Amino acid sequence: MMPEFTSLFHSLRFRLIASVVTIEIIMLSLLVWNNISIIHTTHTDRLRDTATSMIQQIANTSGNHMVAVDYATLKDYLSNIISYKELSYLVIADRDDNSVIALGTVSPEVRPEIDSHPAQVNDGVFDIAQDIKVAGQPMGRVLMGFSLSLMDDAISKSRNRGITIALIEIILTIIVTIFIGLGLTRRLGILSKAAAEVEAGNYSVSVPTETNDEVGKTAAAFNNMVAEISKRTQQLLQEEKKTHQLLKENRLLIQKSLEVQEEERKNLARELHDELGQCITAIQADAKSIRDLSPQCDQRIITSADAILNVSSHIYDVVHSMMHLLRPSVLDNLGLVEALKEEIHDWNKRNPKTSCIHTFIGDLSTLGERTNISIYRIVQECLTNITKHASAAHVNIKLDNDSEKLHLTINDDGVGMVKDPTSQHLGLGLIGMRERIQALNGVFFYETSSECGFRISIHIPLDTDTKTRESKTLASSHGQ
Ligand SMILES: Nc1ncnc2c1ncn2[C@@H]1O[C@H](COP(=O)(O)OP(=O)(O)O)[C@@H](O)[C@H]1O
Ligand SMILES: [Mg+2]
Repeated sequence: MMPEFTSLFHSLRFRLIASVVTIEIIMLSLLVWNNISIIHTTHTDRLRDTATSMIQQIANTSGNHMVAVDYATLKDYLSNIISYKELSYLVIADRDDNSVIALGTVSPEVRPEIDSHPAQVNDGVFDIAQDIKVAGQPMGRVLMGFSLSLMDDAISKSRNRGITIALIEIILTIIVTIFIGLGLTRRLGILSKAAAEVEAGNYSVSVPTETNDEVGKTAAAFNNMVAEISKRTQQLLQEEKKTHQLLKENRLLIQKSLEVQEEERKNLARELHDELGQCITAIQADAKSIRDLSPQCDQRIITSADAILNVSSHIYDVVHSMMHLLRPSVLDNLGLVEALKEEIHDWNKRNPKTSCIHTFIGDLSTLGERTNISIYRIVQECLTNITKHASAAHVNIKLDNDSEKLHLTINDDGVGMVKDPTSQHLGLGLIGMRERIQALNGVFFYETSSECGFRISIHIPLDTDTKTRESKTLASSHGQ
């Protein structure tokens, strides 16, 4: 009930009609009330004036007849007067207040109370009296009563007419207001429906202008606005499509370059191992033979051979470390878990102030090669970031295969990201991580705060599709 009432009250149509009708009723009531009081005053004043002049006239005329004791002529004269339509009674009393002539509807003995004004009458008859004097000598009194019924009839007729006119006016106003209100609100309703359609994304709507008034002009402006919005939205959609396409291409490019980079690193590591490694071994063998075969006395040859052995051994170490950086052989030979353990162990040795612990859960030996290298590179980059940016005391790495998804979390208790994270300005390390995970159809996100440090969370679905996709991508990258 309440919401219905509230919605009715909020309706423009209801408010318009209600306010116009209320104002109309108040104004017309005031007008009718004002007219009735003017009519009442006019009628009572007229009656008082008439009564006063009549009684004056009768008092003057009666005095002469009373002096002459000619009551018969006086009565004739008064009989004509009593026929006046508003006159109810007429009494002539002598000096002792005895009725000498009594005409009309009053008994000669009764002396009604005298009224001062027709507006202050209680019994429906306006009673007045006038002394009869001749040459200053009192001769008696004239008493007259004027019935107010005729005046009341006239007043009530005027009042009824006024009220009828007011009612007709109110009804006409209601009809006209409803008519205009309905017309107005119907068109506004069409506009509001069309605006809701536009809000819902339908830009093909247009509203009829119908007339050239304010609502018509608003409708025309609305149509132009919708056309403009539609045009701009189309442009925006096209731009968005282009941007989306560009983003997709960029993403593919980054992912491809990451794959190519990995492949190149792998090839380079293999080349270094196969070619340079063999050569160094050969050089070392030759240097050893030269040293062993040289005569005892020729110290210079021995020294040179030792120098060659030292340098080549140094080159071997450098090449070995480069090979490890390019592609840790343990990853291919012993798998992800061992490669990560080795990486974390080395990192702990290089960063004695920070302790990194790890947890491996589930079967991590059956992941695809691309997943392995991605996880390995992400852990590597995270550890590098912790060294560079975190000033952390503890690092926790957790890798969990729950057979549906692979979850990796790396969190440290360092200072967190000092850069404004809302600036969306990621470094290449974080972008690389995101792209690697995106290529595996996974999700990547990070949380950072000065209290809790920095935390990276990764979830990769382990469905057959991922594996198929992985092997396809690898096959295509091998082919290039
Ligand atoms: N563990 C971390 N602790 C604090 N800040 C970090 C951490 N890892 C990354 N960051 C912040 O994120 C930024 C982006 O990192 P990254 O993409 O690896 O780029 P880079 O290391 O080259 O600056 C860093 O500059 C650093 O401000
Ligand atoms: Mg980095």
